[in-house]
Amino acid sequence: MITALTHPIPLIDLEIVHAPIADELRGAFDRVFRSSIFISGPEVAAFERDLAAYVGVERALGVASGTCSIIMMLLAAGIGPGDEVIIPANTFWATAEGVHHTGATPVLVDVDPRTALIDLAAVEAAITPNTRALLPVHLYGQCAPMTELAAMAARHDLMLFEDAAQAIGASYDGIAAGAWGRAASFSFYPGKNLGALGDAGGVTTNDHAIAEQIELLRSHGSVRRYVHSSMGFNERMDELQAAFLAVKLRRIEADQVRRDGAVAQYHEELASVDGAEVFTIDPRGRHVHHLMVVQVEHRDRVLDSLHAAGVGAAIHYPVPVHLQDGADALGRLGQFPVSERLAHRILSLPLFPGITPSQVSACVQVLTSAIKEAS
Ligand SMILES: Cc1ncc(COP(=O)(O)O)c(C=O)c1O
Repeated sequence: MITALTHPIPLIDLEIVHAPIADELRGAFDRVFRSSIFISGPEVAAFERDLAAYVGVERALGVASGTCSIIMMLLAAGIGPGDEVIIPANTFWATAEGVHHTGATPVLVDVDPRTALIDLAAVEAAITPNTRALLPVHLYGQCAPMTELAAMAARHDLMLFEDAAQAIGASYDGIAAGAWGRAASFSFYPGKNLGALGDAGGVTTNDHAIAEQIELLRSHGSVRRYVHSSMGFNERMDELQAAFLAVKLRRIEADQVRRDGAVAQYHEELASVDGAEVFTIDPRGRHVHHLMVVQVEHRDRVLDSLHAAGVGAAIHYPVPVHLQDGADALGRLGQFPVSERLAHRILSLPLFPGITPSQVSACVQVLTSAIKEAS
């Protein structure tokens, strides 16, 4: 029987994350509230400039969620019915959803067991005459092998996009996540490394035509009020979220230092835990550790013990895309064995800027006992 923690440790403690900036966030709220401009105003424009500068691209567009940022960047680049877009099977469902809603077909491929990121040989093998684009995912905060993917895209005359939802601040071979592709999508869901206080997302690009298309698409295809040049959506980022995000973007590097410290401690302590395996960190990249994922045997039993002891671990993700009920013929059981195996073995341990060294140690201790008890 594992002793329960006196103070449970959540997967992410947003109260702790927000405590040092609570006054600044309230100030941002007051400023927007006083202005009474809630949509399409100066806050979104300012955040877009800050985000573009941080990622190192010419344009950033604020939209309503990470999911709609995928849909919009693909639509803006002309992806549509008849096109195939290659994505990894081990990702959040929204990657497939984003492709689907353009009318294109998501084509799944397996991932590299060392990193859980899209597998280069599998991508190459999945290319057909209908393939128009590659959409790798920088899962858990680590960039996919972008230099190799960019070369492959160039060889096959394909567009390269990025699902950078989990990877703001990451880089590969010195180029930032979000600056590699024709365009990249970000999620600012509250638990993300740059999280809004609600739903929000963004697209980054150096392609001005894509940026202009997204400006139309996110706002009813409207060139000016009540004049519509195309069928669009209502998927704008709102002023409050932009004001909050600008506050949090100013802290992102300081928060990353705290996140990195906790991850270094996890790696050091987990190295002596039998039966807990961490993914390889590619030295060519900067990993921003959105999630602290370990692989264990008997994962469900281990997870139950962690929860019973008060450790808020979770699974990202328990069912690969092709085995979801909503995946209409995207793959069959056994087709992507690495993703399927990972789905049975992974669990994410608590991680957030502000998690203390004693909390990290407590999580590792509980995990150690849970692994022993489950085997
Ligand atoms: C890899 C990935 N893609 C897309 C999304 C979708 O973002 P959102 O939840 O902001 O719509 C997420 C967020 O959960 C994600 O993790």
